[in-house]
Amino acid sequence: MKVLGIETSCDETSVAIVEDGRKVIINNTISQIELHKEFGGVKPSIAKFAHEEVIDGLIEQTLSDAKLSLNQIDAIAVTIGPGLIISLLVGFKRAKELAKKYDKKLIGVNHLFGHICSNYLESDLEPPFICLLASGGHTQIIDVKTYTEYEIIGTTLDDACGEAFDKIGRLLGLSYPGGPNLEILAKNGNPDAFKLPEAKVRPYDFSFSGLKTAVLRLVQKLPENYNKADLAASFQENVTNTLVKKIASAAKDKNSKKIVVAGGVAANKTLRKKLQEVRACHGKPLQVFMPNLKYCTDNAAMIASSGYFLKDTSQDIEMLDVFAKDPSSIKLKTLSKIPL
Ligand code: KG4
Ligand code: ZN
Repeated sequence: MKVLGIETSCDETSVAIVEDGRKVIINNTISQIELHKEFGGVKPSIAKFAHEEVIDGLIEQTLSDAKLSLNQIDAIAVTIGPGLIISLLVGFKRAKELAKKYDKKLIGVNHLFGHICSNYLESDLEPPFICLLASGGHTQIIDVKTYTEYEIIGTTLDDACGEAFDKIGRLLGLSYPGGPNLEILAKNGNPDAFKLPEAKVRPYDFSFSGLKTAVLRLVQKLPENYNKADLAASFQENVTNTLVKKIASAAKDKNSKKIVVAGGVAANKTLRKKLQEVRACHGKPLQVFMPNLKYCTDNAAMIASSGYFLKDTSQDIEMLDVFAKDPSSIKLKTLSKIPL
């Protein structure tokens, strides 16, 4: 089954074709990073126009790269949230028009569910597993029971993990997005240079605002020429230690044999290395899965994969229509089978 995926939830316009949820035939992404850099974050109105400018051409290009016509596509999957509503609508409207014109099934995908599915791409991963989802908007530990059933067992109480990377990146004078740029700066730093606090919250929950404030206070006290690489490395060390500790203890408590990481922060190489080390010292056989680097940050391949796994779930397309007409009425709860 070939699914065309469309993703426009934030600052990446992406279109992909994936076969049977795992085989990526083509994944084309146009990033808007350069357009948002001067604002230090995503500017929704610019994001919307940038998506509109490229979406039709990108759909055409993707089909042509795959040497396929829309008639040869079995279903269309599109991100319906969470994300910037005006950006989401650009992709949703195109998906709906194409589904109607070519008489294809339209599948609405929760973006976070999409990130989990990025782990099925070009991999043989099968549920059950424990997933750490760390993106720019969310930090969650999810008990994935089957391809479509899961339970969120931990979440952030304030800032998301990627958001914390972005904010500290800004504080260090790095350009948007802070996460990958902070990782580059941290390469030349000493991760033990500064002792930073760890939030005391419930075992699977997260809180990054105290850490953010501690870094801010520290910078205010340090001389102007303080070693930024050391601070970046110490921050990264603190956050990745917390993430790894929590996912490892969730896996242990749930007696899970597989841990999985997803979302933009999953691209962080220190985090990836530490997760591999958990495998080495877990004692019991434990498999660690991570998406290919190109599928960690936002992409349509993960949305097309989600479409495949959600193909038999019932969705209320009328609700999707309401969402298209009145963005404020979006309630992911109404999409019964995608409750993330
Ligand atoms: O999943 P994603 O592309 O978008 C959302 O759904 O939010 O995640 C983007 C987030 C940003 O906050 C970005 O700074 C962070 O992921 N990120 C990283 C790295 N690459 C992206 N954080 C740390 N290290 C990285 N290498
Ligand atoms: Zn994302």
